Amino acid sequence: MLKHLSLTNFRNYVRLEVDFPKGLLICVGENAQGKTNLLEAIYYLATFLSFQAESDRQLIHFLALHQPLAVARIVAEYQRGSFNHRLEVRLILEKENSNGIARIRKEVLLDGVKQKLTAAIGHFSAVIFLPDSIQIIEGPPEERRRFLNLAIGQVNPAYTEALVDFNRALQQRNALLKLLSERGGDESQLDFWDGEVSRWGGFLIHARIQALEELEAMAAPRHRQLTRGKEGLVVLYLPSYDPYAPAGLQGRFPIEVAVNRRRIPLQQIQEGYLQALRQHRHTDIQKGVTSIGPHRDEIRFLSNGLDLGSYGSRGQTRTAAIALKLAELDWIHTKTNHPPIFLLDEVLAELDPFRRLDLLNRLLECEQAILTTTELGLIDSNFLQRASIWKIQDGRVHAPAPQRN
Ligand SMILES: Nc1ncnc2c1ncn2[C@@H]1O[C@H](COP(=O)(O)OP(=O)(O)OP(=O)(O)O)[C@@H](O)[C@H]1O
Ligand SMILES: [Mg+2]
Repeated sequence: MLKHLSLTNFRNYVRLEVDFPKGLLICVGENAQGKTNLLEAIYYLATFLSFQAESDRQLIHFLALHQPLAVARIVAEYQRGSFNHRLEVRLILEKENSNGIARIRKEVLLDGVKQKLTAAIGHFSAVIFLPDSIQIIEGPPEERRRFLNLAIGQVNPAYTEALVDFNRALQQRNALLKLLSERGGDESQLDFWDGEVSRWGGFLIHARIQALEELEAMAAPRHRQLTRGKEGLVVLYLPSYDPYAPAGLQGRFPIEVAVNRRRIPLQQIQEGYLQALRQHRHTDIQKGVTSIGPHRDEIRFLSNGLDLGSYGSRGQTRTAAIALKLAELDWIHTKTNHPPIFLLDEVLAELDPFRRLDLLNRLLECEQAILTTTELGLIDSNFLQRASIWKIQDGRVHAPAPQRN
């Protein structure tokens, strides 16, 4: 549970020191006051990534960027089980290099000790729900892989490590493929990178199989509830290298076939993927890129047999997105034994009254949830009475003084 947050030069928060309440917190404010920025800071502590900025530079306060040592800091004190922890992230703008480019260096301190980013991920966990979250259902496949990476990364630090190693190996393999396609050369140079790509890639595929199956089992009943029993939800994993599909059907396995890949051992996936990389070597050299692997994975969401990404109405897609987010919340809780903080940015306005009530009821069950809105009128007074309410104005938080009675 988040107990205290300090922000320094983070977005439009020059300086913020604030204690957080348990339960549901509603942050109300006009446009451009800092509601989303507050959620962004909290989510950053869980993933060390922004859910909206393209570059970390955008996170540092404009004015601080012109100071000699520009640093933005997010510091959280939180409770996990019966222990208190302190997590600090520093975003430091480094001096320009010889090309005139100033990079941002991220430093993470957990309980005062500097940590590798990948080692500190998941120590503080959060689930974010934005109007944009429907992109997970209907957007491009990158959105779905990103969703999955961020969720699994929070429950399994080894996953994020594997993802970093996989991406690095993939880049090297692709660079070598380009070189071979342009200049020719000894193809056996690819052996080493095939090994690395399949080792880390196989790990990702294996973890995704397990995660998606568990997420589906949690999302389906939520979805049924939200649709008053009218619609089911199926989450289909379509791995680009499919450890289940016979060699000739790789990448073209029919979508309708529900298969159980859960029992396939990690080593078998890694070996199969290695073989597939070897089989695709020639086409990969021609194209200059690795054509098969978890960087091309797809996930589809089906409701009553219909692919929501292609055929879902807006309301259906939104409902599936809520079910998925609630499942993510349950899943991280189950896997880590600690309830993540649930962050919701401006999502009420788009929901019909039934879904709004369902969601608000679920929020009241959360150990901690933060909901932003421009309009308190969207929320039933019943819920307002049971929530804490803060006003956000121009990079400041106005929390009412604790009541004494
Ligand atoms: N690096 C930065 N330094 C200073 N201010 C910034 C920085 N980045 C963004 N801002 C400003 O922060 C303000 C608040 O943004 P935020 O997205 O949190 O608003 P909001 O309260 O969520 O508004 P809305 O209701 O429109 O979503 C914006 O006016 C924006 O220009
Ligand atoms: Mg906002």
